[in-house]
Amino acid sequence: MNKGTQLIHNGHETDPLTGALGVTVYQTSTFLRKDMSLGPSSQPFDYSRGGHPTRQALEEIIAALENGAKGFAFGSGMAAISSVFGLLSTGDHIIAAEEIYGGSLFILNNFYKRMGIETTVVDSRNPENIRRAIKPNTKALYLESPSNPLLKITDLKTCLAIAREAGLLSIVDNTFMTPYLQQPISLGADIVVHSATKFLGGHSDVVLGLAVTRTPELGERLHVIQNSFGAIPGPWDEWLVIRGIKTLKVRLETQQTTAGKLAEWLLQHKNVTAVYYPGLENHPDRAIHEAQASGAGAMLSFKTKTVEQALCFYKRVELAAAAPSLGGVETITSRPVTMSNIATSAADRERLGITDTLVRVAVGLEDAEDLIADFDQALS
Ligand SMILES: Cc1ncc(COP(=O)(O)O)c(C=O)c1O
Repeated sequence: MNKGTQLIHNGHETDPLTGALGVTVYQTSTFLRKDMSLGPSSQPFDYSRGGHPTRQALEEIIAALENGAKGFAFGSGMAAISSVFGLLSTGDHIIAAEEIYGGSLFILNNFYKRMGIETTVVDSRNPENIRRAIKPNTKALYLESPSNPLLKITDLKTCLAIAREAGLLSIVDNTFMTPYLQQPISLGADIVVHSATKFLGGHSDVVLGLAVTRTPELGERLHVIQNSFGAIPGPWDEWLVIRGIKTLKVRLETQQTTAGKLAEWLLQHKNVTAVYYPGLENHPDRAIHEAQASGAGAMLSFKTKTVEQALCFYKRVELAAAAPSLGGVETITSRPVTMSNIATSAADRERLGITDTLVRVAVGLEDAEDLIADFDQALS
């Protein structure tokens, strides 16, 4: 079945009890125990931290979409990512791509460092950098492609094969692409993580995280962490994401088409010095991206000639909300130096090319012509 159809026909089309078209929100924290004999309950649901019907529906939907065995929902993308890092132990070493979401790097370099887990960041555009960073205690590899905020591409298949060969647990953040455009487990990943706050939820009205494991065994281990850390979402938020996923195809297809038009238009603007979008002819790793994803997505960034022009853009743009986050129906623009990359050192920002003039855009569902006209007045 194609992903577009699978977004709708997901095994949870109707409520088995009533025939209602959709998943029911079970607003409950606990479930009646029918048998009080000794030992753990054999009932499907017992206490909502460990398992819950609305959550289970969402978890099964995302697991199927990501071609994985088990899905897990968390209270935020960071809760999902932190819980996955909980699979590591003191003394372990993890290799992470240098341009992953700032929050993921922050938790590795702060909380998990204190727990005795060491992180090495590498430029994952060259897979050999990963091979070279592997040490006897290396246990995991963490990747994101396209990267945030410069849309750099990592050859996932090659890097994940290196991880498999070395016996590493491989984790990919698939937030920017979603399973509609890219399925990292099919490219060799062990775990996929998501900020469902973004394209999966799709309406800037819910904070939620997801993780999917390749195998049921890894799923068992992650379930212990989900149940014991307890960083779970509530049923209404789970339902909002279930609903959001149904329209992912139409949203993302439209957002992607508009992103392509906007990127082409930005390229020729006199006050724009660079445009970063994997769908552009001039993107250095376009071929790699096209081999591993079925579209360029709806995220792009660009640099203005001067800092003043960037600041003026944020002030004058009307159709794009200047805000953190991405993946909503409205276009959202953010300033990486003061938002997603605020914890990145100035030296690292300089090395990575995350300048004061960099503007990130998450393209929404407005008409392309209106967005271009608005960007034009804000940039000129
Ligand atoms: C790529 C990516 N991963 C993870 C996260 C964290 O997700 P959340 O904000 O839902 O905790 C974000 C948030 O911006 C993100 O952009």
